[in-house]
Amino acid sequence: MFERFLSSETKYLRTSEIRDLLKLTEGKNVISLAGGLPDPQTFPVEEIKKITEDVLTNYSDKALQYTATPGISEFRKELVNLSKSRGISGIDEKNIFVTVGSQEALYMLFNILLDTGDNVLVEAPTYLAALNAMRSRRPNFISVTVTEKGPDLNELERKVKESNANGKKVKLMYVIPTAQNPAGTTMSTEDRKRLLEIAVKYDFLIFEDDAYGFLVFEGESPPPIKAFDKEGRVIYTSTFSKILAPGLRLGWVVAHEDFIKEMELYKQNVDLHTPSLSQYIAMEAIRRGVIQNNLPKIRRIYKEKRDIMLEAIETYFPKGSRWTRPVGGMFIFAWLPEKIDTSKMLEKALQRGVAYVPGASFYADYSGRNTMRLNFSFPKKEELTEGIRRLAETIKQELST
Ligand SMILES: Cc1ncc(COP(=O)(O)O)c(C=O)c1O
Repeated sequence: MFERFLSSETKYLRTSEIRDLLKLTEGKNVISLAGGLPDPQTFPVEEIKKITEDVLTNYSDKALQYTATPGISEFRKELVNLSKSRGISGIDEKNIFVTVGSQEALYMLFNILLDTGDNVLVEAPTYLAALNAMRSRRPNFISVTVTEKGPDLNELERKVKESNANGKKVKLMYVIPTAQNPAGTTMSTEDRKRLLEIAVKYDFLIFEDDAYGFLVFEGESPPPIKAFDKEGRVIYTSTFSKILAPGLRLGWVVAHEDFIKEMELYKQNVDLHTPSLSQYIAMEAIRRGVIQNNLPKIRRIYKEKRDIMLEAIETYFPKGSRWTRPVGGMFIFAWLPEKIDTSKMLEKALQRGVAYVPGASFYADYSGRNTMRLNFSFPKKEELTEGIRRLAETIKQELST
């Protein structure tokens, strides 16, 4: 009704298909494999209660007050330590910036870095909300195929060369190297180093999203690309959403001071600072070891759920399908026989009582029409098997028509 009043930028905004989907399934007998929520069993509720009480007793003057834009100084120091536990060294408080979830970090940095038409490398598929945040800047996406081992680096280098030969350099790559959302893939340490070498060689930035770096439940979590960065070329972000609680809305960035300064200017116009109370709670959670002590439980729960989902997929999915076998995170990604369009099939799946996210939403060019993302962290164990069974029936039905 009031469209004529909207700015041209707002007109480029797209609603999240995941959110639209969740709305469709609300209150119905639908097993949702569509969402991306942590299992509430992983929230350390009693510890957070105790910490909150202590914070309000000991620091209420600061925890309920406005604070500095880059984050509370003592908290940033703790974030230096937490980042070091992921193998990132040579940083101090000046390299840390606290954000309202890592989503705000993505949004701010894409706005700080990207102009219309800039060449941006993205994985195909990649995180939907990052794509949407980038889309509002109207960049030129260069998609790189994700294989079982992460982005295909030969294809990547070829595309970077092509782009340079056409006189348009690549500015940035947005990448999720560990337990990728949606693909569930994890890059090897070797590939991480090689990607950084390519970035150095062709002079582009790497924006590394390590949302699931602490959530590897099989084998060791490889060090982030930032751990190999000697010149500040890698901007790193991670989040408390998967290791403590998403409701606190806390994320952080590790980056060269030059980027941190720009973020400070930008955030002053957005929301002044990240909620002080959340920062104090997370700071105490790190100091008291609540996060580190809770990680084994989170990993155990997610591994068990991944196993249940994988077993159901192996049992029920028709021939001609393939899927990832994630070593961490919350998602499995599946490729169905070419004939199937998962966006079109969704309505039938919902009728059978199961929801998923059609994979096309995770591709910058909306390809991947025969793919889907399946979440195993949130549904209950019994729902995982039944959900996959219903989904497999839908797929078989679709194949037979
Ligand atoms: C890859 C990735 N990055 C960033 C986010 C944003 O999370 P938050 O804003 O809660 O930190 C998510 C959430 O699902 C994600 O999967």
